[in-house]
Amino acid sequence: MSGDTDGARETEHDRRHRAAAGPVLVRIEDVFRRYPSGVEALRGVSLVAHEGEVVCIIGPSGSGKSTLLRCVNGLEPIDRGRILIGGREVRTKGREARQIRQQIGMVFQSFELFPHMTALSNVREGPRTVLRLPREEVEERARAFLAKVGLADKADSLPAQLSGGQQQRVAIARALAMQPRAMLFDEATSALDPETVGEVLNVMQQLAREGMTMLVVTHEMAFARTVADWVVVMENGQVLEEGTPRRIFGAPRLARTREFLQRVEHAPLPAAHCPEVGPR
Ligand SMILES: Nc1ncnc2c1ncn2[C@@H]1O[C@H](COP(=O)(O)OP(=O)(O)OP(=O)(O)O)[C@@H](O)[C@H]1O
Ligand SMILES: [Mg+2]
Repeated sequence: MSGDTDGARETEHDRRHRAAAGPVLVRIEDVFRRYPSGVEALRGVSLVAHEGEVVCIIGPSGSGKSTLLRCVNGLEPIDRGRILIGGREVRTKGREARQIRQQIGMVFQSFELFPHMTALSNVREGPRTVLRLPREEVEERARAFLAKVGLADKADSLPAQLSGGQQQRVAIARALAMQPRAMLFDEATSALDPETVGEVLNVMQQLAREGMTMLVVTHEMAFARTVADWVVVMENGQVLEEGTPRRIFGAPRLARTREFLQRVEHAPLPAAHCPEVGPR
């Protein structure tokens, strides 16, 4: 809609879009994190992800994106503020921390697979040792999730025998096998060869379509544009601005957002990287 570029009406549009979304699953309220080194990685970050929403977090290097995801998962303590998952406050220690971590799947840039274990064993590990499911159920679940990411035929391969994209898909299957309520992706495609980026983005897009709640830190602007329901731009430990992808990419309010987007979008991606379908 061409008349939508007017600032006030865009704000209204964004509000309506948010109001239509489901209940809040992840709530981040005024979170601060200062590393022991003195670096203030998060300086009052607030954002929410509704159930079934894909929230993409973008922003320059060092802006605090990874720190934020680690805090959501209880891997990193916070100094001030609150993080709630399904209304329960995230802790970093003890049984509650473990419970939260079970509900949140995390996929890192560096896969983090067990190198001595086959793809299937990697996916079996959580359901077996953490959920303590019966052996047959573990087996069935692991095979089902490997199949879901398109790797049924690689069950017996070791990580070293797989491409980067395949390893990352195993890592996604491993996280999904815990049947998490939400998935966090931290630059899941940044370490991949260009030819395997698309296969991982496609799996992520499929998850989004199925209604998985996802917090996705990414440099893949094509993914953020087409798959995100909501885009959060971070800079220097703070949220610079947030909105629908259409508003953020089409009519960023702040000059700093525009500069950042120009910088990243001047490194265009080959068509093969772009997710194949339009907005959900
Ligand atoms: N473990 C750590 N100890 C001390 N400082 C850290 C640690 N991890 C990150 N930092 C610092 O905190 C700030 C935020 O880092 P973070 O990794 O969260 O940024 P980012 O947005 O994920 O960056 P990138 O896009 O490069 O991954 C940076 O200044 C970084 O140097
Ligand atoms: Mg990072």
